Order: sequence, then structure tokens, then C-alpha cells
Amino acid sequence: MSGDNPAQHLDAIPPDTLRKVQQYLKPFQLSQAKLLEVSARLNQDMVLGLGKTTHHKAAVKMLPTFVRATPDGTEKGDFLALDLGGTNFRVLHVRVVEEEQKVLKMDSQICAIPKEIMLGTGEQLFDHIAACLSDFLVSQNLKGQTLPLGFTFSFPCEQIEIDKSILIRWTKGFNCSGVEGKDVVTLLREAIHRRGDYDIGSVAMVNDTVGTMMSCGYKDQSCEIGMIIGTGTNACYMEEMRNVRRVEGEDGRMCINTEWGGFGDDGSLKDIQTEFDVEVDETSINPGVHIFEKMISGMYLGEIVRLLLVRLAEDNLLFRGRTSEALRTPFTFETKFISEIEEQDDGLVNTRRILTELGLEREPVDCAVVRLVCETISQRSADLCAAALATIGNRIRTNRGLSHLKTTVGVDGTVYRKHPKFSEKLRATVRRLAPECDITFLVSEDGSGKGAAMVTAVAQRLAHQSRL
Ligand code: GLC
Repeated sequence: MSGDNPAQHLDAIPPDTLRKVQQYLKPFQLSQAKLLEVSARLNQDMVLGLGKTTHHKAAVKMLPTFVRATPDGTEKGDFLALDLGGTNFRVLHVRVVEEEQKVLKMDSQICAIPKEIMLGTGEQLFDHIAACLSDFLVSQNLKGQTLPLGFTFSFPCEQIEIDKSILIRWTKGFNCSGVEGKDVVTLLREAIHRRGDYDIGSVAMVNDTVGTMMSCGYKDQSCEIGMIIGTGTNACYMEEMRNVRRVEGEDGRMCINTEWGGFGDDGSLKDIQTEFDVEVDETSINPGVHIFEKMISGMYLGEIVRLLLVRLAEDNLLFRGRTSEALRTPFTFETKFISEIEEQDDGLVNTRRILTELGLEREPVDCAVVRLVCETISQRSADLCAAALATIGNRIRTNRGLSHLKTTVGVDGTVYRKHPKFSEKLRATVRRLAPECDITFLVSEDGSGKGAAMVTAVAQRLAHQSRL
């Protein structure tokens, strides 16, 4: 669907060069028919993920979250929230005020996680988290209190209960030893007890998609999908219990964390994976894992562009056939460059600056080709996300026997927020792929922080009600 791109800047590219560049870009341009096929395939995989006997081997994990209710507006109290798995690790103090139906972020702190810890042992990671929380409690004068804690842990977890969550595997940049297969809440509590200087109350484990859905749900009760397009990509939605074959009970709904990033891990996306996608996967810290995510999310988009630029230069179609040390170094082309290059007004100035910083030629033709590459890669990312979102929209619609569905998706993530045209591209493709679904997009205000507090608050409300 890249035909939609305004192409004024293409004038700077000689026709013969443009034709050859397009040959490289063609495999990234997915037709409507292909996207519909991808969407149908994802639906099949989602059914396998929900199935009692098929979920063990399913690429799309469809994890039950034990979140059965969205907020009803009566939740209240003070909470701590931890947010691990996005761009930064954060600790937050959140207050939910019932009368005003407001979720207030009282304060928050970002703690860096050094690369050695991201790739170190689980004990080091959780000691680091517990230390950051301790510093925050001191700075907030909260150390004597035992507040409930919402833990946004944005990795695929097999949730046993709201406070018992087993990490299936690390994704994105993390790979700490001794955590896969273990309960994350236990590891956190053990680290806090090792310190012995403070304690926490009940814990609710939350995926960032769920936090995003819940934080929007407080404002808009028809918000029943949460989506992240940031460092990684994923979505959750409210599924009918009768379809969640692996959890007892037929009535009502439960939020399912799809882990759609894993789509394709069984080889089902081979037809759309380009040689560049294969290279990004093979050189990653987790080859074969999260194939769909690697074609879409912020952690990888810049790297796909970089590989393409290197190849185009080698084929004499860019930078007068020369690359640079920087361009040949993995991950030097940051995903945020794509956003800067595609900016409406400052795009060209930004492109020149970025190419200069990378030690590359910056003739008009170079700037135009680089922009075309960026547009193609972000368009494909938006198109694939749209195909996946259309699958979810259509599932909810058919689940309810509706010919038309009106629903809201809570969204967050750096790619969605920061890229100047991503949200527009995504919306346009979803409309084309799922014309029967009228989807409103609501950008979540700090879903991972406030949403985690919200899940904790709803869990407390339900626990309290069941005790009455
Ligand atoms: C990765 C994680 C998933 C998370 C997503 C967005 O795909 O596996 O749990 O929701 O990134 O952060």
C-alpha cells in the first residue's frame, strides 16, 4: 500500500536509479490481498493459541491475563507501579481518586538498566529493581507504608493468578539467566527480602498492553483492546470466556494477551520475510523468536533500514557507492532517525544532519533515496500492525454476532507516538482491511504506570467484593 505515499522528493532520483531501488523495496510493499491473507493466518494462529490441546505449541501464545473486568469507576487508593520492558525502567507512585474518576501520577523516577544487567543474571536484575524501588520510597517518604504494587512486566508470561506469573521467555533486549520458567513475583519479593529495608503489599502482574487498555478503560468503557507499537509490539483484547478453552468457565470475558510478536515463529511468515528480515533475526540475541515483532517494532526498524542502505550503496545506488564505518556498524541507524527523516517540514534538514553524522554523502539524490527507504519500512510496519488489529476487530465482531463493531483501542509506544505519519498510515490500512469495524484510537496516558495501578485497584475491588 505504499502507493499512498506523497512522492514529491522522488524527482531528485534519476529514473534508472529509482527503478533499481524499487526492486529492492518491492518485497516490503504488501498488497491488500496479501495483508488480508496475513490477517486470516493470524486468526487461525489465535484460535490455536486459545485451544486446550493446541496452545502448547502455538506461535501466538494468547495468554490468559486473569483480568476479567475493566474499571467501573469505583476503584481508589494509593499504589506503587513498576514498569519494565519498554524504553526505560520506571518506578511510580499512583493515586486513584474515586470521586473524580481520575488516576493521578504522584511522582515517578526513571532508573537506567545497564546493558550488563540486561544480559546478566536474574538475581542481579531483581536486586537492581529492588534497589531502585528503595531509593524511590525514600525520596517519596513512603518507606514505612506497605502499598500494593502493580508490576508492568512486558514480556510473555504464563499467568497462573494475578500475582503469579511465569516468564516464558525474554524478548527485546533482555536475556537474564535463571528467570525463564520462574515466577517473577517471587523473584521480586525475594530481592526485596534480601534487602530487608522495606516491604510491599499485594502484587498484580500486568503486561503493558493490558495496562494500556485499562488506563484508557477508565475514561472510555468501550475500550477493549490495548496495543503497543514501541520497542516491541503486542496487543490484548477482551475475549469471550467460552473461547478461552484453557481456563475453566464459560461466562463473561477475559483479557487475552495475544503476544502477536511471536506470529511467524513457526515459519508461517516466510513468504513475506525479506532477506533483510532474515538477517535482522539471525543476528539478534534471540534468533527465531518474535519474527512478526522484528518486522514492525522500534527495536528493529532502524536496523532494517541500515541493512538496506548498505546494500543500496554496495550496488552503487546510494552514497556514490561508498558506505562508512558507522553505517556498517549494527544498530547505528536508530529508529528515531526514521521519524526525523519523514517529518513534513524538517525532514530534509534532518536527513542531511543524520547522513553527515553517519559520515555519508548527502547529495539530493541520497536524501531522496534514504527517505524512500524509511517510508517503505514504516509503511510496512503500519500495514502489518493494521492487518493484526483488523484480525482482533473482526474476532470481537464475529464473537458477538455483529455485522458492525464500534470499539476503542488504547495505544501506546514510541513508534506510534513519535513517528509523524505512523498513526495515519495505520488507521488508513485498518479501514481498508476491516471496513465493518469502526475503531477509535485513544493514546494511553501512561498505561504502563497508571494502567498497572488500575489493574491492581480492580483486582482489589474484586477481591473485596468476593469477601463480602
Ligand atoms: C514484546 C513482549 C510483550 C510486550 C511487547 C510490547 O513483544 O513480548 O509482552 O507487550 O513487547 O512491549
